[in-house]
Amino acid sequence: MATYNEVQNKANRTFERTLSYDLYTDPKVLEQEMNDVFAKSWQLVGHVSQLEKPGQFFTTDVAGEPIIVTRGMDEVIRAFYNVCPHRATKLEKNESGQKKILQCGYHGWTFRLNGELNKAPNFTGEDAHCVSDRCLRSVRMEILESLIFVNLDDNAKTLQETYGDFFDRLSKFPFLGELKRINQKTRVIKANWKAFIDNYLECDHCHVAHPSFVATLDMKNYQIVTCQNYSVQGSMIKPDKTMGTTDLNEAEMQGGEFYWLWPNLMVTIYPGPANMATIQMIPIDHENTLAVYTYYFRDENLTQEEKDLVTFAEQVRQEDVDLVELEQIGFRSRAFNQGVYSQSEKAIVQFHEMVLEALGR
Ligand code: FES
Ligand SMILES: [Fe+2]
Repeated sequence: MATYNEVQNKANRTFERTLSYDLYTDPKVLEQEMNDVFAKSWQLVGHVSQLEKPGQFFTTDVAGEPIIVTRGMDEVIRAFYNVCPHRATKLEKNESGQKKILQCGYHGWTFRLNGELNKAPNFTGEDAHCVSDRCLRSVRMEILESLIFVNLDDNAKTLQETYGDFFDRLSKFPFLGELKRINQKTRVIKANWKAFIDNYLECDHCHVAHPSFVATLDMKNYQIVTCQNYSVQGSMIKPDKTMGTTDLNEAEMQGGEFYWLWPNLMVTIYPGPANMATIQMIPIDHENTLAVYTYYFRDENLTQEEKDLVTFAEQVRQEDVDLVELEQIGFRSRAFNQGVYSQSEKAIVQFHEMVLEALGR
């Protein structure tokens, strides 16, 4: 992986040509990305509000691997491969729940929420000693600003080292610690995962495609800043627009910030009521992507202004989905095999440089 300065210098140059379009249409590229991008980067898997009580757990997939995240009876949150050490069966089938013991459905081995083997019913004779150390295999996990990340790469840098001052920037939103994960929506997008990231990383299209967005934000002062393995964009809300609220304090006024974190996570904080949303682009295959939108507010009973904010965000996203699905059609065409960048698209340049670096091209 390139150093921060190397990436920064490259991002500051104006590149004429984008990634070639075969990187959006070739199944072999996605295969390599699964190993060299998704299995080696920090992936958001959840929020501490999903694990408030001992024994609570949720399951997920990271780079095609089944993962379980638990809060043990000792209150500690841990992540494991959701795979039985006896003969590889996927251990917990439910998406979430609360249990004192996890039981494999094949031969009935049981495990404590801290990953230790509890009982192996088919190994109670002289063979018992040979399974006594067969615990669940743990996965690198870190929690910052209540967000739970895992990384399948045991040698990966820490979250803080990876994303520099990103978490310091978030700390200026004092309400983040009070938020709960309220709901999650998914949508299958008929496009390569990188197409949506490209779309998110520039706002040249905002005037054309997002009338409600440009009517609300001060686009003259819209900025895009590339940072260490992430970028941030946004602007002040226009003074006469209030996003459904009449009582914006200054911290909230400045809240229109849209972050991207390498490789596939976006974090948005809109002006108005305390809010955050995360967007993850999870490849289904090389031309289909599962978009996962998660909303975080103070309380699950949303106020009208919070509902308005979700409606606003959903509208903008649908506009983006329509665009990238049209783009994917063109990626497959023989008409062109590369695009060009404008001056204001340096965050895409940064993303593309990182993709090429990760793929060793
Ligand atoms: S595979 Fe899990 S108990 Fe046998
Ligand atoms: Fe957009």
